[in-house]
Amino acid sequence: MIETHLHDDVLEIVMNNPPVNALGLGLREGIDKALRSALADDKVKAVVIRGAGKLFSGGADITEFGRPHAAPHLPNLINSIEASAKPVVAAIHGMALGGGLEIAMGCHYRLAVHAAKLGLPEVTLGILPGAGGTQRLPRLAGVDAALNMIVSGTPISGEKAAALGLVDQLAPEATLLEQAIAFARAAKAPRRTRDVPLTAEDDVFERFSVENARKIAGLDAPRACIEAVKAATEMPFDDGLAKEAALFDALVDGDQSKALRHVFFAERAAAKISDLPKDTQLRAIKKVGVIGAGTMGGGISMNFLSAGIPVTIVDMGQDALERGVGVVRKNYEASASKGRMTQAQVESAMALLTSTVDFNALADCDLVIEAVYENMEVKKQIFARLDGVAKPGAMLASNTSFLNVDEIASATGRPSDVLGLHFFSPANVMKLVEVVRGASTAPDALATGMEIARRIGKVPVVAGVCYGFIGNRMLLPRQANAEALLLEGATPEQVDRVHTNFGMPMGPFQMADLAGVDIGWHRDPARVETLQDALCAQGRWGQKKQAGYYDYDAKRKPTPSPIVAGIVADFRRKAGIVPRLISDEEIVVRTLYTMVNEGAKILEEGFAQRASDIDVVWVYGYGWPRHKGGPMFWGDQVGVSNIVSALERNADRLGTGFTLSPLLKRLVTEGGKLGG
Ligand code: 3HC
Repeated sequence: MIETHLHDDVLEIVMNNPPVNALGLGLREGIDKALRSALADDKVKAVVIRGAGKLFSGGADITEFGRPHAAPHLPNLINSIEASAKPVVAAIHGMALGGGLEIAMGCHYRLAVHAAKLGLPEVTLGILPGAGGTQRLPRLAGVDAALNMIVSGTPISGEKAAALGLVDQLAPEATLLEQAIAFARAAKAPRRTRDVPLTAEDDVFERFSVENARKIAGLDAPRACIEAVKAATEMPFDDGLAKEAALFDALVDGDQSKALRHVFFAERAAAKISDLPKDTQLRAIKKVGVIGAGTMGGGISMNFLSAGIPVTIVDMGQDALERGVGVVRKNYEASASKGRMTQAQVESAMALLTSTVDFNALADCDLVIEAVYENMEVKKQIFARLDGVAKPGAMLASNTSFLNVDEIASATGRPSDVLGLHFFSPANVMKLVEVVRGASTAPDALATGMEIARRIGKVPVVAGVCYGFIGNRMLLPRQANAEALLLEGATPEQVDRVHTNFGMPMGPFQMADLAGVDIGWHRDPARVETLQDALCAQGRWGQKKQAGYYDYDAKRKPTPSPIVAGIVADFRRKAGIVPRLISDEEIVVRTLYTMVNEGAKILEEGFAQRASDIDVVWVYGYGWPRHKGGPMFWGDQVGVSNIVSALERNADRLGTGFTLSPLLKRLVTEGGKLGG
C-alpha cells in the first residue's frame, strides 16, 4: 500500500491503495511507518507524499465509519506529519478529497497541478472534515473560502487553490514530482499550518448562515461545519481540533449521515448488474436518434448534445419539430444567461442537432430513443417502422414511463436490441434513468444502456418490466391515497405540506399540477367518475392552464383553489362521504408507508435488483430527501413492523386493490430488514 523511493536526501512516500487511495488502516499504518523511518534516518532531509494512480487520495475509508477502527487514527497521523521536524511536501496530481486534503494540509507545503481537485466533501456524507480540515483550511485559505468549501463540499481547482494560498506552487504533471522534491530539499524548515494566526470579522458566521439558510435547512452537518470553523477562529488550535472531533462523532452516529452514506454506496451498487459478465463488450454509440420533439424528446436530446454526441431528432410535423428545437435552444440560452455555459458552447451543442421529418434519417444512428406520448399502438407502429430503418446492431429504446417494453419489442424482428430508457422530467436536469431490461434485451444492449446513461451524466438504475417500472409504480398507491384523502376530508395543501415537511421538493398534488393533471385522462369531459376526471373536465389540467389542484398566477405561484374545494365538496355529497379531520400521521401512513409496501413488492417480484436501487430511483428521480436515504432505507429506519402494523390498522382505508407485501409480512415474523 505504501511505496517509498529515496531521491538522495528526499524520501518519496507513495500512497497506493486502488481505486481511490482511501485512507484505510493499511494506508495509515504504512504512512506512519514510512514517516517514522524518514525521521529516524539521518540521510533523509525532507519528505514528499504523493498518490499513485489517478488520485492523491479520495479521503478516509468510508466503509470504516460506524465501526470501531484501529490506530493510527487519521487526525493523529496528520498531527504527526505536521509535527515532523523534517519538511514534508504534498505533491497533488489529481483529486485530494476529504482526509486526502487534510493529509495535504498537515504537510508543511503543497504543490499541485493546475487541474487538481482539492475539496472537503464530507458534508455530502452528513459529516464534517474530522481530521483537522475545519481548523487548517481557514488558516490556509481564509475563513470565507473555507466556509464555502466545507459547507458546500464542492472541490476547487489547483489553480484556484494556489490563488487562495492553499497551494504553494503549481506545476505541470510531468514535472510535479521533480519540483516537489526540489521544493522539499530547498525548504529550510517545516511551516506548520497550526501556527498560522487566524482571525475573522465578527459577523462572518452569522452572515454566512443567513445567506445559506435555505440550502442548509433541516440538515445537521452544514450547521456543525459552520460551528467547527467558528471554533477555529475562537479557540487555540488543539481545542479547535477537540471541538471538531466531538462534532464529527455526533454526526457520524446520526441518522442523516447513515442515510447519506447509504446513498453514496447505493448509487455505486446500482451500476452493478450481477448476471452480466464483466467482459461484456459495449456497443459504440456515436450518433443518437430521438423520435418526438416534445418536452421529453427535446430534454433527452440535450443530454447527448451537451456530451458532444450528435443527435437527429425526428417528428412527424414540421411545426412540432421547429417548436421543439426552439425550446432546446431557449433552454441552452437560459443556461448561458445564468453563466452556466458560454455562447460558444450553446452554438456547438446546437450544431450537433439535426432536425427532420424524414424517419429514414435515423438509419445511421447507433441508438434511437422513442419519446412520443403514452400509447401502445402508436409505439408499436413506430418500433415496427424503426425495425425497417435502423441499421443492424442499433439499440432501440423507448422512453415509456409505464408501458410494457416486451410488447413494444415484439413489434420488431430484433427484440434483443430493444430496451427502455426512462428519463425523468425535466429530462435535461433530472439525474435518474431507469434502464428497463426486457425479457429479450441482450446483455451488451443492457450494459451499453447503462454506460451511455453514465456518459451523459445520469445515474442509471436497472428496472424490470412491470407497470410503471420502479418509480412510477410506487407513485400509483401514493396518488390514489392522496386523492382518497382529499375526499375524506384533507386538503391538497395539507397533503402536500406533509410531503414538503418530510423534505420532498413537492407533494403529490403539486407534482400532479406540474406534470399535468390530464396525464392518463380518458379525454371524455362527459365521463366524470373520479376527482381527476372532474378537474380535467373543467380544463384544470395543471400549471400549464394556471389551474389544477391549485390556482396559479402568471408566475406560476400557487394558491388554494375555492373551485377545487367546491368540486371536492360536490363529490363528497354525491358519494355520501362525511368529511372528517385527517391527521398528518394518517397522511404519512397512507401516502408514504404504502410506497414502502409497493417498493417491497417490486423487490420481491424481482423488478428491482436490490432494495438500494429503489432508493436511488427515488433520490435521483423524484427528489426524495437524500438525508432520508430513500424509501427502503427509511422504511428500515421507521421499522418494518411499525409500517406493517400501521398499514394493517388503516387497511379499510387503503382501497380495495391494496394488499400487504408478503416480504414485509415475512420480515415482521422472521426479523430482518428491507436492506435499503
Ligand atoms: N472510502 C471508501 N471507498 C471509496 C471511497 C472512500 N472515501 N471513495 C470511493 N470509494 C469506492 C467506491 O465505493 C467505489 O467502490 P466500488 O468500485 O466497490 O463500487 C470505488 O471506490 C470507486 O469509486 P467511484 O466509482 O466513485 O470512482 P470515481 O472515479 O467515479 O470517483 C471519487 C472517485 C470522486 C473519489 C468518488 O469515489 C468520491 O467522491 N469518493 C468519496 C470522496 C469523499 O467523500 N471523501 C471524503 C471521505 S470522508 C473523510 O475523508 C472523513 C475525514 O474528514 C475524517
